[in-house]
Amino acid sequence: MSGFHGLFIPGPTNLPFRVRQAMDVPLEDHRAPDFPAFTLPLFQDLKKVFKTEKGQVFVFPSSGTGGWESAIANTLSPGDGVLVSVFGQFSHLWADMCRRFGLAVDVIDTEWGEGAPAEEYQRRLEADKAHKIKAVLVCHNETATGVTSDVAAVRKALDAAKHPALLFVDGVSSIASIDFRMDEWGADVVVSGSQKGFMLPPGLAIVGVSQKALEAHKTARLPRCFFDYSDMIKTNKDGYFPYTPATTLLHGLRASLDMLFAEGLENVFKRHRRLADAVRRGVAAWGLTLCAKDPKWYSDTVSAVCVPKNFNSDDVIKTAYHRYQVSLGTGLSKVAGRVFRIGHLGHVNEIMVLQGLAGAEMALRDVGVPVEAGSGVGAAEEHIRATAPKLKLGKVA
Ligand SMILES: Cc1ncc(COP(=O)(O)O)c(C=O)c1O
Repeated sequence: MSGFHGLFIPGPTNLPFRVRQAMDVPLEDHRAPDFPAFTLPLFQDLKKVFKTEKGQVFVFPSSGTGGWESAIANTLSPGDGVLVSVFGQFSHLWADMCRRFGLAVDVIDTEWGEGAPAEEYQRRLEADKAHKIKAVLVCHNETATGVTSDVAAVRKALDAAKHPALLFVDGVSSIASIDFRMDEWGADVVVSGSQKGFMLPPGLAIVGVSQKALEAHKTARLPRCFFDYSDMIKTNKDGYFPYTPATTLLHGLRASLDMLFAEGLENVFKRHRRLADAVRRGVAAWGLTLCAKDPKWYSDTVSAVCVPKNFNSDDVIKTAYHRYQVSLGTGLSKVAGRVFRIGHLGHVNEIMVLQGLAGAEMALRDVGVPVEAGSGVGAAEEHIRATAPKLKLGKVA
């Protein structure tokens, strides 16, 4: 194959060349006297991405799923209640993990394609007079359906109900791509992973933890070992880890943070919004709909596109993969065969998005979905053109 295979799944995402280069280093002594000079600024800089001054960010050699586990095991006790709305595969899996930990899980069963229902959170929290619910879980960006929830509204629900539960947020496919304000929204454990907005290979769980969660950690009784926040605190304060860290990935993380700050976080969010808008216009021009039921839920990192009845989205995905070297995300669980997903997060730009749309568009036509040639790509192009910086061109003499 010549050229690059187009990676348009919602993570792992494309690696910037600079990040790849930064990881091309000899392995090193992670207990060396000068190692903290590298790690301490890294810990501080991660806090800027989570927008927390009061909290701490821990980096585990793991994936996002390990970050979920760290939240549960460190702050809760057997039998504790948790309240979670389930509206996609990832919110479902986190709720399932809570059950496996022996927690009492109160599920707000929400239609896939909708986001976290803040009013229902409030109603159930108000009904919990005995404060049996110890943690409220919300998936900020449900990657399976392309839905972004309003975390601030869930915070407000907790406050309105005067409920002391911790607020856990899954930010795996939002952090570093969609605005997230850990302190302002009073989030207590925020879980992310390296392979999405951080533009790194999989392998790190990056977890923001509030002081309130660290307080809860002191008396929480669920067993924990690998993900123990106390061990992290003890060693991180001097720039070290309780076990061998993924040093190579940490060098990639340094480069990724430098790139995010050079662009400016707010500009990173704007870029994601603009490219997502271009994708959404393309989808509309195809005459197709998103799994996200309302514009207020639209995700700026991933679009789950519904194929018309009588078509199988897996055929579109296979066709795009084999005929056009474009990877699209598959439909998971309840929406298997019904949606394909276009990931537009991390290291992406205008032309890359058009590549993904072109691959999807040709594949849709190949499998017989009545889509006009160039329609989606054309609509996206027009949005990109209309929103690109203006140039003043000189006249040719
Ligand atoms: C929203 C969300 N949460 C959690 C996970 C699980 O993360 P990981 O696969 O890194 O364990 C994913 C993975 O795609 C995700 O998209």
